[in-house]
Amino acid sequence: MSETIEAPAEQAERTQQPRTYLMCRPEHFTVSYSINPWMHPDDPTDTQRAVSQWQKLYDAYRALGHKIELIEPQPGLPDMVYTANGGFVIDGIAYPPKFRHAERQGEETFFTEWFRDRGYEVVEPKTTNEGEGDFLLAGEVILAGRGFRSSDESHRELADIFGREVVSLTLVDPRFYHLDTALSVLDPVVAPGAEPTIAYLPGAFDEASRRILAERFPSAIRVADADGSVFGLNSASDGRNVFISPRATGFEAQLAERGYTPVTIDLSELLLGGGGIKCCTLELRGAGA
Ligand code: ARG
Repeated sequence: MSETIEAPAEQAERTQQPRTYLMCRPEHFTVSYSINPWMHPDDPTDTQRAVSQWQKLYDAYRALGHKIELIEPQPGLPDMVYTANGGFVIDGIAYPPKFRHAERQGEETFFTEWFRDRGYEVVEPKTTNEGEGDFLLAGEVILAGRGFRSSDESHRELADIFGREVVSLTLVDPRFYHLDTALSVLDPVVAPGAEPTIAYLPGAFDEASRRILAERFPSAIRVADADGSVFGLNSASDGRNVFISPRATGFEAQLAERGYTPVTIDLSELLLGGGGIKCCTLELRGAGA
């Protein structure tokens, strides 16, 4: 009689899902103001270095078969490289940002026009929200960060626009001011009702949010403080390849144990602005008409 031995879950074969991302070359990147604890305008930045590090991320995405769209960088808007904040897009519907800080509000029209010109259905935001920096699609639900940038009202707006359940999560550590600095969705596409694997830094959330995460995502990867504090969670995943910081060595090992393929890209220069891989990557779900 033959016996079937089930492979342990962590040995699972991971399937890559081709993605389309919006990126912005950091030609005007610098740190000239401070709106998060990582930004120190008195410390020097090297724009050329930022561009070449960014280029490696761009090349890695392309080499693995992803489609990259670009938005023109604008002088005087040094944070435009962080396109995750440029909106939130599902099924060709784009919800542009309304930034909390005046320093970034000039970006709003450029992102909005970019979506319009490409035929996305643009729904004008009524309240403060910072796009995919704070909103992450996890299976059928939208996880939404609050506490530092996006407003509570934006969570309700999101639910109305996209007709999905929005799960609000409260961030409590100023170093992790956007949801995408503390939580990463590793499976961009899952079967209906299936639990996507997520990874998160428990200490970045309040007690109630930690409880919600534990209940809804029992198989989540909990990341150590050492990995979280080097922006290890600010990563992009295609379901198989996970693009992460080379400094997050513990997280890298956890990913490998679960059958993912970590791809390390160093964006140390962009970390001076308080951003990493995910911040430079906006997922475009459903092309414009
Ligand atoms: N300097 C930018 C800011 O504070 C960094 C944005 C990082 N983006 C992100 N998706 N976490 O707004």
